[in-house]
Amino acid sequence: MSIASSLLLGDEVLNDGTCLNSFLAATCICQPATPTTPPRRGVLAAIGNTPLIKLEHLSAFTGCTILAKCEHLNPGGSVKDRAALYMIEQGERAGELQPGSTIYEGTGGNTGVGLAMVAAAKGYGAVLAMPASIAQEKIDAMQTFGAQVLLTPSVPFTSPEHYFHRAREGAAADPKGYWCNQFDNMENYNSHYTGTAPELWAQSQKTVTGFVVACGTGGTLAGITGYLKEQDRNIQCYLADPHGSALFDYVSHRDDDGTKDEEGGSRCKQEHVGGETVTFIPRDTGNSVTEGIGIGRVTKNFAASYADIDGAFKIEDKDAIEMAYFLKEKEGVYVGPSAALNVVAAVKLAQKMGKGNTIVTVLCDGGARYKSKLYTKSWLETKGFVLMGSKERNRLQWLGRDE
Ligand SMILES: Cc1ncc(COP(=O)(O)O)c(C=O)c1O
Repeated sequence: MSIASSLLLGDEVLNDGTCLNSFLAATCICQPATPTTPPRRGVLAAIGNTPLIKLEHLSAFTGCTILAKCEHLNPGGSVKDRAALYMIEQGERAGELQPGSTIYEGTGGNTGVGLAMVAAAKGYGAVLAMPASIAQEKIDAMQTFGAQVLLTPSVPFTSPEHYFHRAREGAAADPKGYWCNQFDNMENYNSHYTGTAPELWAQSQKTVTGFVVACGTGGTLAGITGYLKEQDRNIQCYLADPHGSALFDYVSHRDDDGTKDEEGGSRCKQEHVGGETVTFIPRDTGNSVTEGIGIGRVTKNFAASYADIDGAFKIEDKDAIEMAYFLKEKEGVYVGPSAALNVVAAVKLAQKMGKGNTIVTVLCDGGARYKSKLYTKSWLETKGFVLMGSKERNRLQWLGRDE
C-alpha cells in the first residue's frame, strides 16, 4: 500500500516512512482474549498441550518452516513430565503403586524433577539416583518437591554403582517401592505416541515433513516417530546425537553393515546385567557437555522405532552452545543444551531436505536449569569453549550447509 493511499485510510505514517497499521499487523502477536478453558484438575492436568512455535529467524535462514514444541513449558519444566505422569499412572492402574508407596528411578535429572513433582502431587515418596555431575539446579528442583536424591559416581552401566542399578535395587529392597525404569518402560513411549505427537501434528495442521530429536531413553524419538510414520510414511524422522553417544553409528551404519566388526561379527555386545540381557553399542570416543541425551545401549523405548528412523546427525557441542545463545538473543527462547542441539539438527535436516519443508523438533527443557553451566561463560571456558561475538553468531554462517 502506498503512503498516500494509507493516509487516505487514516493510517499514521511513522518517522521512517512506514505506516503504523501495516507495521503493527506485521509485528504484533497479541490478540483480544478468547474464552478460557475451565480450571484443570491440579497441576498434573497441566502437563502436555504445550505450544508449538515457529522459529522465525531460523525459518527465514533455511527457507523452511522450523517448528519447536515447547516442552520446557510443562509445569515441571521439561519434556520428561509426560513420561513421569504416564509411568506413575500405569503403576497405579497395575496396583503396584498404593498410598504410602515410594517411587524409585535412575535419572539424568529431568525425569527426576517430573517424578518428584508427580509424587508430591499424588502423595508418594520419591528416591532418585543420578550421576553427581548433574546440574545443581535440577537437584535443587527435586529436593524442593521433597524427593531424596542419591548421587552416584560416573561409572559404566555394568558397574553396580551406576544410578540405574542403585534405583532398581533400592526399589527391590523396599516392600512399598516402585521402580519406574524409564529406559524400558513403554509408558514413556506412549506418553509421546498418544500425547506429544498427535498434539504437534494437529498444531502444525498436518504439515510436518521432517522431525528430528536427540535421545536419552529414546521415548521422545520413538514415540513421535511411531505416530508420524502412521500419518505419512514419507515424513523423514531423524536422530540427533552428541559426541560420546553410540546411536549415531548404530543408525547411520545400518545399511553398510557398520555394526559388524572386521570378521563380520557384531560390534554390539550382549551382556547379562542385573538379570537382563542388555545390548551394548560401541560408543563414540568424544564426550559432550549436554545433559540427558546420548546412550550406549539399546533401550526398549529406542528399539521401538529403530527400523523407522531415516538417518542421524552427529551434532558438535560448539554448535549446540552457539545455538543456545542465538535462541536466547534472537528468538527470545531460553532453553537447555539438548534443546539447542535439537534445533541445530532441525536446521541440518532443513538443509538436507531443501526449501519449503516443515521441520519439527523439541525444546526439552529451559535454560534456567543450566545457569551455572551453559550460561556461565567462565564454566564454558573451563570446558574449552569460547563463544563467538553475537554479531558473528547472529549472521548464522557458522551453521553452514550440510551437503
Ligand atoms: C534435558 C533432556 N533432554 C532430552 C532428553 C531425552 O528425552 P528421552 O528420554 O525421551 O529420549 C532428556 C531425558 O532425560 C533430558 O533430560
